[in-house]
Amino acid sequence: MSDIVVLGSANMDLVVRQPRLPEPGETMFGSSFATVPGGKGLNQAIAAARVGGSVAFLGAVGGDAFGRELRETLAAAGVDTDGIALVERPTGTAHISVLDGGENAIVVVPDANGVELPLDDVQCDAIRSARYLVVQFERPLPLVAEAVAFARSVGVTTVVTPAPVLPLPEDFLDAVDILVPNAGEARELAGIDDETDAARALSKRAGMVVMTRGARGALVARGGEIVESVEPYAVTPVDTTGAGDTFTGVLVARLAAGEAEASALRAAAVAAAIATTRAGASTSMPTWDEVAPLV
Ligand code: RIB
Repeated sequence: MSDIVVLGSANMDLVVRQPRLPEPGETMFGSSFATVPGGKGLNQAIAAARVGGSVAFLGAVGGDAFGRELRETLAAAGVDTDGIALVERPTGTAHISVLDGGENAIVVVPDANGVELPLDDVQCDAIRSARYLVVQFERPLPLVAEAVAFARSVGVTTVVTPAPVLPLPEDFLDAVDILVPNAGEARELAGIDDETDAARALSKRAGMVVMTRGARGALVARGGEIVESVEPYAVTPVDTTGAGDTFTGVLVARLAAGEAEASALRAAAVAAAIATTRAGASTSMPTWDEVAPLV
């Protein structure tokens, strides 16, 4: 059984590098194309495993070549794949434009990730025997909410990346121990324009809010107050895809390893920065040997 269970999406990322986004009706040239295993759930699982986490992934893929490759990628990273359901839909895809400067624009087609499945006995057992459950919102929200409520009921720490932002059931945030939004997600979720105020407001509901701010580092809020600022690790980014997922996966893995909160946060910031210096999502995540000397 694994310390960390990630319930989430697995997508094949179809990645085009291009100078800018096209206008509606415009055809333009890109400079390269690649398929890269991704999906916020898969990314977080792999990020956690690369820095030493013991991780199981609960997901859904189709019986196609993309699904096989995603499963193999997780297994090769040492992630337990027994909780991946095979469903009668194509494997999910993400259509990603990476622009000069490293920013991206993403359209996700959930397909297999969107199939409504209840938590089964195998998944409940995996969550019950874990210490952390990590979720995002690229699987059906009822499933995600059920998993979070179940984890809470059996004393497992719940970690939520609210991406993409969705309207949430009234009591959802109260069952979250660690909420890891980026600044835009925090603003949208809280319905507050100022990101710091948004983090403060969300931390009156979730136990702890770690708001990532890209090249500006991260802020930690608890009980309505900002309690810590995480300094950025300066790099020149080439592709920011999966950086937030790297942050969450590494944060949880290092907390699970027994590290103090401040050094786990620093490790997460360093790992996320390293990930932006390489192309792709799951392909960009560093190992603990790379991160440790910089923490
Ligand atoms: O967070 C990055 C991820 O978002 C990509 O890998 C893509 O699959 C989408 O889920």
